Parts: sequence; C-alpha cells; structure tokens
Amino acid sequence: MNLNRRPRRLRSCDTIRRMTRETRISPDSLVYPLFVIEGKNIVEPIPSLEGQFRYSPDRVCEEIEACKKAGVRSVLLFGLPAQKDCQGSSAYHPDGVVQQAIRAIKEKYPDFYVITDVCMCEYTDHGHCGILCGQEVDNDKTVEVLAKIALSHAQAGADMVAPSDMMDGRIAEIRKVLDENGFQNLPIMSYSAKYASAFYGPFRDAAGSAPAFGDRKGYQMDPHNRKEAMKECLLDMEEGADILMVKPALSYLDILYETSRAVTLPMAAYSVSGEYAMIKAAGQAGLIDEHLVMCESALSVFRAGANILITYFAKELAQAIQNGEIG
Ligand code: PBG
Repeated sequence: MNLNRRPRRLRSCDTIRRMTRETRISPDSLVYPLFVIEGKNIVEPIPSLEGQFRYSPDRVCEEIEACKKAGVRSVLLFGLPAQKDCQGSSAYHPDGVVQQAIRAIKEKYPDFYVITDVCMCEYTDHGHCGILCGQEVDNDKTVEVLAKIALSHAQAGADMVAPSDMMDGRIAEIRKVLDENGFQNLPIMSYSAKYASAFYGPFRDAAGSAPAFGDRKGYQMDPHNRKEAMKECLLDMEEGADILMVKPALSYLDILYETSRAVTLPMAAYSVSGEYAMIKAAGQAGLIDEHLVMCESALSVFRAGANILITYFAKELAQAIQNGEIG
C-alpha cells in the first residue's frame, strides 16, 4: 500500500511509545484519602473498602510511613468522631479527631502535606452536611460553621483545607476567616463540581456519614448537568479557591475536560469509593486485571485534564509509576 501516514510507526517499540506519550503522570500528583477515628490504638479494616483502614490519631503515622515508602506525599483526612450532635460541633473542637491526627502527623513528619476534608456529615447525628432547618440544610448557618471547622484545622497545622459540603458562598467565607486569623497563605481546594452520586456508597459506610433521612440532592449537583459545573467552578474561582475539584472522576471526565480548559486554576479529580470498590470487586471476581484497570483509569483522569488525583489506589499507583508501568 502506498500510505504516507502510518500512525503505527510511533507504536513500534516501547521506547518510541514512551517518547511520544501525550500524558505524563507522577506520584507528586497523587493524594491519598485517609480515615481517622477517635480512640486509642485502633487500626481497623473498613469492610466496604477492602484494603483501607481507619486509624486512631496515635497510630495514624503508621499509614503516613507507608505512604512515604510508596512515594505518596499527601493525604486528605476524614474524621470519625466519638460524639455526634445536630450542630456537628465535634468537627471544630480544638481536640477533635482530625485536629489530633493533624498534630500527630505534623509532629513526626513536618514536611508531609496534610489536606483536610471540611464538611459536617461525619459529625452530625442526622448525617446531613450542615445545620438543619426543618428537613432542609440551612445554607448560611452552615457556612458559618464550615469556616469555624476550616479555621480549627488550620490552627491544628493543616497545610490545606478542602470543603466538600456544596453550600453557596462557603469559599468566600472560609477565605475571609482564614485571612482574618493570619492564614493568608493556606490554600483552599474546593470540591466545586460535586455531584449527588451513588458512587459514594462505600464511603458512607467507611465514614458513618449516610444521611438519616432523604438524600443530598438539595445541595450536591444533579448528574444531568454540565453547564452548572462551569457555574460552580467559576464561582469558586471568583470566591478565592486555589484548586478546583470534580467528583466523582470516571463518570464525569467530560466535566473535567471542559472545566480544566476554562479555568486558570489546577484541577483535582476525586476517584471516589464506589469507583475503587468496583475495580476491586471485579478484579477479585476474576473479571478484569485489577492492577491494569487501576492504571488505565487513573491515566484517563489525567488525560481528561486533571492535575491532581485523589484516590484510594494512591500507593499502588505511585509504585506503578515508579516501576515504569504507567506515566
Ligand atoms: C463528605 C464527603 C463525601 C465524600 C467525600 N467527602 C461523602 C458524601 O458527600 O456523601 C465521598 C468520597 C468517596 O466516596 O470516596 N461530604
């Protein structure tokens, strides 16, 4: 055949395939979500998330050590408090579980980067992400509490806060309160386009944060919408967010692609608990190769435009990148 275009020339051996890759990934871009539970001497497996554990603050450094060994340099902390109430007050207690964990990590590993999830659902007895007024989450009252939570994380030594509640105006308020208290240099990663997703199921078991009634559709986004994601991202950027996030990842790559092109901020994607659980389960059933599907899925998120990937597979991915299997 007389072909002057033969795309296969660039696929002929590993060296040329690597040389011409369009997407490069690094362990530096990975964040590992980590659950901390109030108490002492606890390391307990999470039944809904095989391979993941909850740690009490006195033992959380064991997991940080494992992250460092694997090449992961950052965690996103979620807390399981001993006490819950309708106001979620254990979320901003100076000696709350996340605050204790931050101090424990920072004492031993001052350079390890600690991001905290700022939300109320793990701390309220009704499991909603804010202060209730009747059956509804009251936006403005919730925003005040979120700013208190963010400040208490900052005071405990967090490097970055990540509000995941989807209230309106929370980025501006958190920025204001952080600035007023001398934390002008502390970045905010906003869960900007967070959808009301069924993929969060295993997380709610892991964090004990399922809503006691109703659902989160009154504050999280409708999965039918794309333009609305852009609205949320642009608002968060105007309000002073430093990094924006799309969540979940795999079913929302179109959102990631579009928003990453429209904004001048780094984009994070959160590959959530249901995505992890599906790959694990299908792997264990012998239906797919867990490791290869993990690698390919992560790659697709970066190809779509993410700069940062938050994933329960962070350690395995960091190893795969360092072994030259992807990247
Ligand atoms: C808290 C929060 C949730 C997740 C991250 N932060 C749960 C939810 O919104 O119900 C989900 C993460 C995952 O599924 O891995 N609001």
